[in-house]
Amino acid sequence: MRYRFALITGATSGIGEALAKALPAKTGLLLTGRDGERLAALKAELDGGPGGGDPRVETLVADLAEDAGRDAVITAAETLPIDLLVNNAGLGQVGQVLEIPAAREREMAEVNVVAPVVLTRALLPGMLARARAERRRAGLIVVASIMAFQPAPMMATYAATKAFDLHYAEALAAELAGQPIDVLALCPGGTRTRFGARAGIQARRSSGWDSPERVAREALAALGQRSVHVVGGRNRLVTSLPRFLPRRTVAALYRRALAGMGGA
Ligand SMILES: NC(=O)c1ccc[n+]([C@@H]2O[C@H](COP(=O)([O-])OP(=O)(O)OC[C@H]3O[C@@H](n4cnc5c(N)ncnc54)[C@H](OP(=O)(O)O)[C@@H]3O)[C@@H](O)[C@H]2O)c1
Repeated sequence: MRYRFALITGATSGIGEALAKALPAKTGLLLTGRDGERLAALKAELDGGPGGGDPRVETLVADLAEDAGRDAVITAAETLPIDLLVNNAGLGQVGQVLEIPAAREREMAEVNVVAPVVLTRALLPGMLARARAERRRAGLIVVASIMAFQPAPMMATYAATKAFDLHYAEALAAELAGQPIDVLALCPGGTRTRFGARAGIQARRSSGWDSPERVAREALAALGQRSVHVVGGRNRLVTSLPRFLPRRTVAALYRRALAGMGGA
C-alpha cells in the first residue's frame, strides 16, 4: 500500500476506524469525527502501536453536517500531503420520511452527500498535482452501500444518499480515467458497527453481517482494481436483483425487510 497520508472521515468507529487500522504504519493519518475522546484513544493506539516511531496520526473534531466543520477539515487537510481521501462518515435512519424528524433527514443529506462532494472537490486538485509531480497514484474511496442500487422505502433518504455516493464515485472514476488516481465506490452490506443502532435498526440476526475489518480489508484490496466493490457474495446477489426483477418489486422486498427491523 503506497499512500503517504490518508484523510478518513468518520474514523471514531466502525468502518472508518477499521480502515485507519488496516493502512500500513507508514501511512500518515488525518482522522475526523465528532467524538474527541474516541479520536484521542485511536491516536494513542496507532501512534504507540507496532512500527510506531514518529507520531503519524492527526485528529480533528468536526461536524460534517455543518459548513464550518467541513471547512475545518479542508483547511487541516490542505496542510498535509493527502493522497488517499476516504469519504466514510455517514448516518442512516429507518422509518417513513414523514415520521423522521426533518433535521435528521437534512443531516443525512449533509453528511452523506454534501460532505463528500465538498471535500472531494476541494482536495482533488492538490492530490492530483502531488501524484503527478511525484509520479505516484492517489486514491479516493466513497463509502456507499448495497442500498444504493434501488429505492428503499423505510430508509428512503438514506438509500437515496447512498445512490448519490455510488453514482458520484462511478462517474468520477470515469472522468478521472487516465489521471494518477484510483476511485472506488465501496458498497458494504450489513456491517457490525454503531451504524445500525444509531439508525434505529433492530436486527434480529446480525450474525451474518460483516465485520468492519473485513469491509476495510476488501476496500483496500479493491482500490485500483475496480471502481465499484460490493462486499461479499451474498451482497453481490442482493445488488443484482434490480437487474432481474422490477424495481418496485425489489423496493417492496426492502420495505418488508426494513419494516421487520424497526420501521413501522
Ligand atoms: N454498518 C453498515 O451496515 C453499513 C452498511 C453500508 C454502508 N455503511 C456506511 O459506512 C459508513 C461508515 O458507517 P459505519 O457502519 O462504520 O457506522 P458508525 O460506526 O456509526 O460510524 C459512522 C462514522 O461517521 C461519523 N459521523 C456521523 N455523523 C457525523 C457528522 N455529523 N459529522 C462528522 N462525522 C460523523 C461518526 O463519527 P462521530 O459519531 O464521532 O461523529 C462515525 O465515525 C457510512 O457512510 C455508512 O453509511 C454502513
